[in-house]
Amino acid sequence: MAAELGFGVVGLGMGKNHCRSVARAKGAKLVAVCDVDEERLGSTAEEYGCKAYTSYEEMLQDDEVQIVNVCVESGKHAELGIQAADAGKHMIVEKPADITPERVDQLIGAVKDAGVKVGCIFQARLEPLNRRIKDAVDSGKLGKLIGVHGHLPWYRADSYYQGAHGSWKGTWDLDGGGSLMNQGVHTVDLIQWLAGGVESVMGMFGVFGHDIEAEDQTVALFKFKNGAIGTVYTTTCCYPGLPQLVTIYGENGSIMKDASKLISWKIQGENEASEEAEMLGFYGAQEDKQKNISADPMAVSSDGHTLIIEDLIGAINEEREPMIGLESARHAVEIITAVFESGRTGREVKVG
Ligand SMILES: NC(=O)c1ccc[n+]([C@@H]2O[C@H](COP(=O)([O-])OP(=O)(O)OC[C@H]3O[C@@H](n4cnc5c(N)ncnc54)[C@H](O)[C@@H]3O)[C@@H](O)[C@H]2O)c1
Repeated sequence: MAAELGFGVVGLGMGKNHCRSVARAKGAKLVAVCDVDEERLGSTAEEYGCKAYTSYEEMLQDDEVQIVNVCVESGKHAELGIQAADAGKHMIVEKPADITPERVDQLIGAVKDAGVKVGCIFQARLEPLNRRIKDAVDSGKLGKLIGVHGHLPWYRADSYYQGAHGSWKGTWDLDGGGSLMNQGVHTVDLIQWLAGGVESVMGMFGVFGHDIEAEDQTVALFKFKNGAIGTVYTTTCCYPGLPQLVTIYGENGSIMKDASKLISWKIQGENEASEEAEMLGFYGAQEDKQKNISADPMAVSSDGHTLIIEDLIGAINEEREPMIGLESARHAVEIITAVFESGRTGREVKVG
């Protein structure tokens, strides 16, 4: 069996969930944590019995740290990721990979030059129901896709945007937007992944319910590469926070799900009724692992993170690419920045 690989987590907000996932992951050992916030740093290092660094540069000099989990503010991912690559560290990068495609490209360049591997966090792609839907699309069962829609009517209280760890949220500089880039990036990635990429977008956005700079409500139209069209709606204004809704219409059938449960699976054919009953029996009554996520940002299940960490370990040991690399994670950033450009100019914007 390969030796355990040493992890260092930088940024101990969502990074605390990464610590939990690293501790659970096979083949991983949490060696160090890093944060400039000494309170967060001290309590996390004590909980996991690992080394504590206030200086990221110092953590990067620690030879026991072979993989860095980059969990700082979104607009710093490329900067800290490039530093990690230059120090020869592999890395896990939180979503979004960064807030502009150009910065993601800079990180891709640094990673290639250093010959290190990167696993990106888009945990929704690993959920078994989402994988079944992807199989139904890819195998042609649904026929030609007609419409793919994602709806995220979430809620964040004003306090979410305030204080030492809140004031970067909803800013252009560090969050790259608000409800679409921060909360909605998972929905955007999920539907682009299911449908096979987005060709062009139109968008409208604004600030409706919070004292923030960027946006807390966005509506977008997507034209997918395969010809289907769709919509994305994201907000953090919908009290008390309702579940994400994803619907996929193909010429042979329709699928509807919320964040964790199947609502409808109807695909024309001889086995329509039995297949629907089987799918609903299995995926219609799943325990909601992230029940409060529509209102509580820290209610993220860490199962997907653990799988992404284990996959990166596999990729390093087997010298293969991780299942969600930077090139794949880049498309969501490209789509979202195009939606904002469309919102500003009032025009349809080509993606990429
Ligand atoms: N996958 C998910 O579902 C999910 C959920 C929540 C957040 N996130 C992502 O996680 C990232 C962090 O979000 P958050 O809500 O935890 O933010 P946060 O502000 O609570 O945490 C960021 C932490 O990084 C620390 N930090 C920043 N720069 C540093 C540096 N140079 N050295 C050391 N420490 C530094 C800050 O002190 C802070 O504690 C964001 O990119 C966000 O999009 C992902």
